[in-house]
Amino acid sequence: MSEEKVRLAVIGLNGIGKLHMANVEKLDHVELAAVCDIVPERAQAVAEQYGCLAYTDSNALLKDRVCDAVVIATPHYDHTTIGIAALESGHHVLVEKPISVHKADCERLIAAHKDKGLVFAAMFNQRTDPHYRKIKQLVDTGEVGDFLRISLIITTWFRTQTYYDSGGWRATWAGEGGGVLLNQCPHNLDLLQWICGMPNKVWATCHLGKRHNIEVEDEVTAYLEYPNGCTGVFVTSTGEAPGTNRFEIAGENGKLVLEDGQLTFARNAVPATEFLRTSKELFAKPSVSVETFTIKGHGRQHIEILENFGDAILEGKELIAPAEEGIHSVELANAMLYSSLIGEPVELPLDGAAFERELKKMIATSIYVKAAEKAVEGDISKSFT
Ligand SMILES: NC(=O)c1ccc[n+]([C@@H]2O[C@H](COP(=O)([O-])OP(=O)(O)OC[C@H]3O[C@@H](n4cnc5c(N)ncnc54)[C@H](O)[C@@H]3O)[C@@H](O)[C@H]2O)c1
Repeated sequence: MSEEKVRLAVIGLNGIGKLHMANVEKLDHVELAAVCDIVPERAQAVAEQYGCLAYTDSNALLKDRVCDAVVIATPHYDHTTIGIAALESGHHVLVEKPISVHKADCERLIAAHKDKGLVFAAMFNQRTDPHYRKIKQLVDTGEVGDFLRISLIITTWFRTQTYYDSGGWRATWAGEGGGVLLNQCPHNLDLLQWICGMPNKVWATCHLGKRHNIEVEDEVTAYLEYPNGCTGVFVTSTGEAPGTNRFEIAGENGKLVLEDGQLTFARNAVPATEFLRTSKELFAKPSVSVETFTIKGHGRQHIEILENFGDAILEGKELIAPAEEGIHSVELANAMLYSSLIGEPVELPLDGAAFERELKKMIATSIYVKAAEKAVEGDISKSFT
C-alpha cells in the first residue's frame, strides 16, 4: 500500500461502477489503480479516462497485485467468485449488494474472509441516510420499546421493461438469481434487519413476471414473525407507480413512521400493553405526544461507504456495513422466495442448501427466452429510491 492512499480497482464498469469510479476521484485517501470489465472496449475507455490500468479478467488483476483493494460491481453471481478470489489473494473487498445470490454462497464468501486484517465491506449505502440512523438510535436506546408490529412497504422501485431488457443477466434465474428481492430490496431488507433484527418465520407470496415480461419476482407480499411475538409485513413491487416508501414500527412506547422523507414518533404516555391491562375504562387509549424530526437530505450514501472502506483500511475505523452482515438480507430474500415456491411458511434460520437446490431447479427448468440485450444509457442516480 502506498503511504497514505489505498490503491483501488473497480471491477464491473457500467451502471453503478461508473459512480464508484467518479467517487474515488473525489476522495483523498483512495486512488484508482486499475479497472476491470469483461467488455474490453469498456475497460480500455475507462482506463484511458482515469489514467489507470485496464483488465478484462479479474483473476489477472488480482494476480498482478496492482491494487490493495477491490470494489466488486458486477452482476450478482460474480460477487461470490470474485469476492472469494480477492480475499484469498489478500485484497481488501468492498462488494456491491447483494453480497451473494443465496445464503449458501454468502456462507462460502464469508468463510473466505479468514485474514481479519483484510477489510471486507458491503455497499449498503442506505445505512448512511440520517433518517434510518435516527430510527436505529430510537430503537437501540429503547425509546420505541419492545416491537409489536412492523410494516415496510417499498413499492417505489418502479422499473420499465426497457430496464429489464437492458442487460442480458437481468431478471433471469441463471443470470441474476432473483428479481426485486435480490436486486432492489437488499437495501430495504438490510435496513429492516439492521434496525429490527431477524424474524424467525417468513410466509410470502412472490409473483413471478406479473407486471413485466421477466421470469423472476416483481411483486411480493410477506408476513413476518419475530421471536418476541411481534408480527410484520413486507411489501414490494417494481410495477407500481407512484409507489409507497413507508417504514412503520409500532412499539410498546409508541409508533415510528418514516414516509416521504418525514420521520415522526408518536409517543405513548403509558406503554400499550401496560395501559390495556390496567385501564378501568372501556374505550380509553394512552395519551400521545407526536414529535416530528427535522432531518435534511438522505446522507452521503455511496461515497460515504467508500470513504469508510478507505478509512477502515488505513486507520482501522469501524465499518458502517461489514460484508458479513449482508447474509441477513439475502436470507430474508431467499426465505420469501422459498416460502412462495413451496407454498408454506418458512422457519429461520433458512436451510441454505435446500434453497440452493430450489434455485438450481428454477434455472434448469427455465423456459424463459430473454429478449436480445438492448444497451440503453441511463442516469444511475435516478435508480436510487
Ligand atoms: N448500491 C446501489 O445503489 C446499486 C445500484 C445499482 C446496482 N447495484 C449493484 O451493482 C451491481 C452491478 O449492477 P449494474 O446495474 O452496474 O450492472 P451493469 O450490468 O450495468 O454493469 C455490470 C458490469 O459488470 C461487467 N461484468 C460482468 N461480469 C464481469 C466479470 N466477471 N468481471 C468483470 N466485469 C464483469 C459487465 O460487462 C458490466 O459492464 C449489481 O450487483 C447491482 O445489484 C447497486
